[in-house]
Amino acid sequence: MGVRVFTAVSGGGWESELVGELDRADHGVTVVRRCVDLAELLAAAATGTGQAALLSADLRRLDGDAVARLAAAGVAVVGLVERGDERAAERLRALGVERVLPADAAPEQIAAALRAAVAGEVPTGRDVADPLAALPAARRPREERDAGPATGRVVAVWGPTGAPGRTTVAVGLADEAARLGVRTLLVDAEVYGGVVAQVLGLLDESPGLAGAARQAAAGALDTAALARLSWTVRPGLSVLTGLARADRWPELRPQALAAVLAQARRAADLVVVDCSFSLEEDEELSFDTAAPRRNGATLTVLEEADTVLCVSGADPVALQRSIRALGDLRDALPDVEPVVVVNQVRRGPVPGDPRREIAAALERFTGLGVAAFLPADRRATDAALAGGRTLAEAAPGSPLRAALGDLAARIAGSPAPSARRGRRRAGVRRSV
Ligand SMILES: Nc1ncnc2c1ncn2[C@@H]1O[C@H](COP(=O)(O)OP(=O)(O)OP(=O)(O)O)[C@@H](O)[C@H]1O
Ligand SMILES: [Mg+2]
Repeated sequence: MGVRVFTAVSGGGWESELVGELDRADHGVTVVRRCVDLAELLAAAATGTGQAALLSADLRRLDGDAVARLAAAGVAVVGLVERGDERAAERLRALGVERVLPADAAPEQIAAALRAAVAGEVPTGRDVADPLAALPAARRPREERDAGPATGRVVAVWGPTGAPGRTTVAVGLADEAARLGVRTLLVDAEVYGGVVAQVLGLLDESPGLAGAARQAAAGALDTAALARLSWTVRPGLSVLTGLARADRWPELRPQALAAVLAQARRAADLVVVDCSFSLEEDEELSFDTAAPRRNGATLTVLEEADTVLCVSGADPVALQRSIRALGDLRDALPDVEPVVVVNQVRRGPVPGDPRREIAAALERFTGLGVAAFLPADRRATDAALAGGRTLAEAAPGSPLRAALGDLAARIAGSPAPSARRGRRRAGVRRSV
């Protein structure tokens, strides 16, 4: 028995013939199941009885999430399109299907593509098994043809439970960076309900991040679509608003969110993401890689980010939570080197010099230094919240605004984005 293949090819009228041809000659593939729709294909993939799926571009409900689920089940995917249908080929590639062939390609070519996909070979630009590869425009995913290169940096603003000030820091950083002339996109990826729109006084009826994730899952998100889904607060500062209701978290699928961030890197020089706190895996679901996970979105953002800020509170309880959260982060994503920002620093809850004591405690228990201390400044945050405005607008001379401005300048002035990929591989993320 050769490579075990599922087929799910709708329309075209060529399915029976193709399956017959594939099975008849000895092409090293065996069709183990002909699926009538995507649901059957996903169910079949979960049984572990097949190694590859041959599917057509017009398969109903096919999206990036489905392709990711097939990959998670260890099923390599080869796509078929009508000859010359470059749009369909492009869409499949945008969904993550790397090998796309015309449906009337010779059965031995399709079989070769299936075998190569299972072997994990990287498709070459002019693979004979991939006649569409000869068409340069068709080979490039939509996002690569868009405006600019993906050079924007992603800064995830994360931290433990207990409202240490993630949203305050994310909004302040984005606003201050934009004031420094850095094209900035603020993304509200809080899976327990987004508040950035409210904090900024935006009338949020927009689909925002959930809409962008939906379009990304359908392979239809480009920079123009992203711009339409974002609010322009002022030139240089845009916002992708968050979930209006906490129970809509399944709309932020990790794979789609990663695609949104990839597109955001093209649209902005700096992408600041307000994240949720929890990294916990859902125990009952952990055996099922396809099940939606609420905290998968947060993990994805932290994994994709160039810089992960951990915002900590400054009292003993908040510090204890941060130490635990940093341990969880190390367990979940050992390559991430978080940048610790201690917020709401004030005299009182920690004896002696709060900065020195806090830095010493965090160093002792996490081995991490503190990159920035932000003062407790209730007067400034109240003024901002009361008016639905940023600190720069509501309290321009406040100590908190000054500290956030310094942090933004350090982040905006960090190494060139072109060094990003190399740095990530080297695991260096501490640069603020
Ligand atoms: N440096 C500060 N000084 C004074 N108040 C602050 C400061 N930072 C944040 N706050 C206030 O603390 C509260 C919580 O802040 P914020 O909403 O930013 O936290 P969060 O970590 O995003 O919380 P959540 O878990 O709700 O997402 C808000 O009322 C905010 O105005
Ligand atoms: Mg928040």
